[in-house]
Amino acid sequence: MNILLVHAQPESTSLTRHLVNVARNFLESRGHSVVESDLYAMGWKAVFDGEDFPDRSDPERLSFIAESAHAFASGSQTSDVVQEQNKVLAADAVIFVFPLWWFSMPAIMNGWIERVWAYGLAYGYQDKGNAHRYGEGSFLGKRALLAVSVGGPEKDYAPRGINGCLEQLLFPITHGTLFYTGMEVLPTFAVYGSGRVDADVMPQVEAAWRNRLERLFDDAPIPFRCQNDGSYPDRHILADHLAPGVTGLAVHTAER
Ligand SMILES: Cc1cc2nc3c(=O)[nH]c(=O)nc-3n(C[C@H](O)[C@H](O)[C@H](O)COP(=O)(O)O)c2cc1C
Repeated sequence: MNILLVHAQPESTSLTRHLVNVARNFLESRGHSVVESDLYAMGWKAVFDGEDFPDRSDPERLSFIAESAHAFASGSQTSDVVQEQNKVLAADAVIFVFPLWWFSMPAIMNGWIERVWAYGLAYGYQDKGNAHRYGEGSFLGKRALLAVSVGGPEKDYAPRGINGCLEQLLFPITHGTLFYTGMEVLPTFAVYGSGRVDADVMPQVEAAWRNRLERLFDDAPIPFRCQNDGSYPDRHILADHLAPGVTGLAVHTAER
């Protein structure tokens, strides 16, 4: 299978880079083809701005969505963006490896998403607005996995932990960014207390990580509800009979 590893940590001795190295070696040893986007090494342009649209459809007013649609449809996207889109399109699975920064991904990786996730590709699929999203779209059939190095202790990210449950904190990425495009998103792999993983604990971390990679194409994805399977009759609001009386992010994940 083709696997894309997108990662964002320039320090070679970091835990993030260690997870990347373990992943590359393990996946290749299993016969997979691994391609990387090492965002710092690539000097990835993190900021989504007017330079992303060298051939503006409207030179007077910068509408990011309209220009993204025009650039994607007319073939006038910048070459770095096209290259990354092609990597994603060729991948059977995309793995994002990053340190948790302010409860999210580093800006350089967020900028990768903003620029690579074009209108017509990742959203506005088939130029039909929101008709195809959440379980449908260009990236249907691909798997996605977040591997996150987390500074804080696991307790702080427990279901009642002070920081909030990690999987819920990452919902804007897993649900709003990846599942949105049609990808099947696996439960997040996290290493907590990342600033001080003792040498004698590291083999357990590596084993757990390899175990998840081994099951990359077998593990059940997070059971996010699909927009167009009847769960959202008007494509906006969850049907009354599902999670009755409950509100919040959790309603968008079905009970297993
Ligand atoms: C800018 C910045 C923001 C951070 N935000 C968080 C955070 O929100 N939660 C947390 O637990 N740790 C946070 N940390 C700690 C990192 O998660 C930790 O340094 C990282 O996981 C270490 O792994 P690495 O060696 O791969 O970078 C932050 C660190 C930095 C530099």
